[in-house]
Amino acid sequence: MAKIQMTTPLVEMDGDEMTRILWKMIKDELLLPFIDLKTEYYDLGLEYRDKTDDQVTIDAAEANKKYGVSVKCATITPNPARVEEYGLKKMYKSPNGTIRAILDGTVFRTPILVKGIDPCVRNWKKPITIARHAYGDVYKNTEMKIPGPGEAKLVFDGKDGSHMEKTIFDFEEPGIIQGIHNRDASIESFARSCFTYALAEKKDLWFATKDTISKTYDRDFKEIFEKVYEEYKDRFEEAGITYFYTLIDDAVARIVRSEGGMIWACKNYDGDVFSDMISTAFGSLAMMTSVLISPDGKYEYEAAHGTVQKHYYKYLKGEETSTNSVATIFAWTGALRKRGELDGNKELMDFADKLEKATIDTIEGGTMTGDLVRMTTLPNPKKVDSLGFIQAIRANLEKSL
Ligand SMILES: NC(=O)c1ccc[n+]([C@@H]2O[C@H](COP(=O)([O-])OP(=O)(O)OC[C@H]3O[C@@H](n4cnc5c(N)ncnc54)[C@H](O)[C@@H]3O)[C@@H](O)[C@H]2O)c1
Repeated sequence: MAKIQMTTPLVEMDGDEMTRILWKMIKDELLLPFIDLKTEYYDLGLEYRDKTDDQVTIDAAEANKKYGVSVKCATITPNPARVEEYGLKKMYKSPNGTIRAILDGTVFRTPILVKGIDPCVRNWKKPITIARHAYGDVYKNTEMKIPGPGEAKLVFDGKDGSHMEKTIFDFEEPGIIQGIHNRDASIESFARSCFTYALAEKKDLWFATKDTISKTYDRDFKEIFEKVYEEYKDRFEEAGITYFYTLIDDAVARIVRSEGGMIWACKNYDGDVFSDMISTAFGSLAMMTSVLISPDGKYEYEAAHGTVQKHYYKYLKGEETSTNSVATIFAWTGALRKRGELDGNKELMDFADKLEKATIDTIEGGTMTGDLVRMTTLPNPKKVDSLGFIQAIRANLEKSL
């Protein structure tokens, strides 16, 4: 069979530890035999990031801007232990943070559903995608411990000489205060990314805040979403999807009772909390995809999990590993499908569909990695090692090509 041709390169960002090992296996077994793979390669492995003083991460993000679509392997975010382990020149920032700052995007996380790995919530039949606004609020706060009696105020001094102030609280005893902020431009980008993604996926978009209590701060979010929705309204109606706004407590109750299938746009803290709830309730972090989408339509696909460090140390000792590659495979298929869509390359899009189906069929057929064996309801699952799992997917894929 002739290999599938590509016209525009995908931006490929390699990574660290066990996921770097899986990355090569996926390319060797599932991609290179079938596609004349065109990528612009950036090595985001920690050693090379250190060698280039992290310039490689910036170059990769710029390439993502230029070509539009990238696929990224999980990478180490250095902490003091990693600085020592790798003898780093300094404690570099998280590559994901750097890329997000350059693309100004929103992260959408979606669980991959397979029969036999059942959601804890029985009525969830379709994946729920969480879109988290990754800017501001309590993550960029200023806090103060109040030692004793006194008046705490919110003060704004405008560059134009204007002045506003409000009392937060008249303390008569020790306590605490916190100042948080957000920017209209950031909220607007977030809204635009969410509406764009909902249209691309043909899924309903939900958004919730607590605007009945937070009559200025949360209401600003609500109003910006309403304003941006006006630009999308006709296209939403045409696509047969809806934009639904409600209070956050009502949203939680409705989500639990729903059959899923929606994109749930969350403020920063809500997104932090609910993305973990959703991934755990649907099964496992190893079955969660993640895509960063910028308001001007640039895409970065990755797995939601990290570098699976413990498995890597076992691998280095020559011990058997059974690491789940599903989310990383889906990062590749997501990127290839999007590349195909942008280039009008139907063959590439079909290949992505077939590879996803082969992956799901493999698990539903009873062959899976250790993490899934522990939670499946399928009878007599067969546990395979990291490469064995990928090779079983290849066997299914070859049948469908
Ligand atoms: N997007 C990213 O690049 C990203 C995200 C999170 C963490 N990290 C990095 O990854 C490293 C390890 O972090 P961590 O241990 O907190 O997160 P992790 O996701 O690697 O592991 C968390 C837990 O889930 C299990 N797990 C995760 N993915 C799995 C898979 N595919 N198959 C089987 N089990 C899996 C692990 O065994 C571990 O018990 C850190 O250096 C961190 O900086 C990177």
